[in-house]
Amino acid sequence: MKKIILSAAAFMMLFSCQNDQTESAELTTNAITKRGCATQEVLAAQLAADPTLAVRMNQIEAFTQNAMLTGRIVNGKVEIPVVVNVLYNTADENISTAQIQSQIDILNDDFNGANSEYNSVPALFDGDKSNVGISFVLETINRKSTKKRSWGTRDVMKNGKRGGIDATSPDTKLNMWVCTIGGGILGYAQFPGGNSGTDGIAVDSKYFGLSGSTNAPYNLGRTATHEVGHWMNLRHIWGDATCGNDFVSDTPTHNTANYGIPAYPHYSTCAGNPVEMTMNYMDYTDDPGMYMFTNGQKSRMDAIFLSGGARAAFGI
Ligand code: ARG
Ligand code: ZN
Ligand code: CA
Repeated sequence: MKKIILSAAAFMMLFSCQNDQTESAELTTNAITKRGCATQEVLAAQLAADPTLAVRMNQIEAFTQNAMLTGRIVNGKVEIPVVVNVLYNTADENISTAQIQSQIDILNDDFNGANSEYNSVPALFDGDKSNVGISFVLETINRKSTKKRSWGTRDVMKNGKRGGIDATSPDTKLNMWVCTIGGGILGYAQFPGGNSGTDGIAVDSKYFGLSGSTNAPYNLGRTATHEVGHWMNLRHIWGDATCGNDFVSDTPTHNTANYGIPAYPHYSTCAGNPVEMTMNYMDYTDDPGMYMFTNGQKSRMDAIFLSGGARAAFGI
């Protein structure tokens, strides 16, 4: 119990850091110059606009920590129905059904230890790598032609009244918006606990599915894998702070985000100098450089689907 209260307190501290001006300015620069993930910035904006969101997210965190502490596991397999919402101005943005299916296949591989690199996980992390055991089924594709050339990170693509496409049954289906985001952003996700009308992930059309060599090094569909990780409550592996906490015990402490494909072993300068798990999907490396979730990340994801969990309606 003490542990839960402590972690909730740590979580609140995380939120207050994100409201810090310097920190968010830094994040913005990062996103533009280094292709950052906008998820954390979107969360910060939502937290600023809606003080009750922090309360809901804290409750989810407390529940998650509790589910992990008591060691409960999900029995049976979670199967996630997926709705893909495609917004296009150019023919290239109107990606093919085959391209969309390739992304679903990648998610199924990555979340079931079936990706080709799974056996190349370094021996040091072999005991940590996880077959998450969650699968994805493509249910519907919605397409809409638009005059808009880029959609940004403020959920406009999720709003029919503003030219986007409204979410379909977000409490029981994972909605994905595929469109040009702009600003060097590959994609972003909404964490459990946000408004249901904006629930889901957005991925830039150029980086959705097996998208061909012109989109290398982001052409293997790992942006969606990373964003679905957030949607299932995973934090960045570096905890969005220097030597920060991702609330997962079997991921090492990272100094910060890693880019490109770091040579192995890459040592952290954080306490204990652990080897960083740069091949984790929740880092920022190139698509070919990220290829594992851990058992700890799996239990964190499983927790949201348990009865009482934020996504329990997906049904276990
Ligand atoms: N959320 C990150 C972004 O928006 C995803 C980056 C994932 N990295 C990747 N190699 N696909 O840019
Ligand atoms: Zn991210
Ligand atoms: Ca960790």
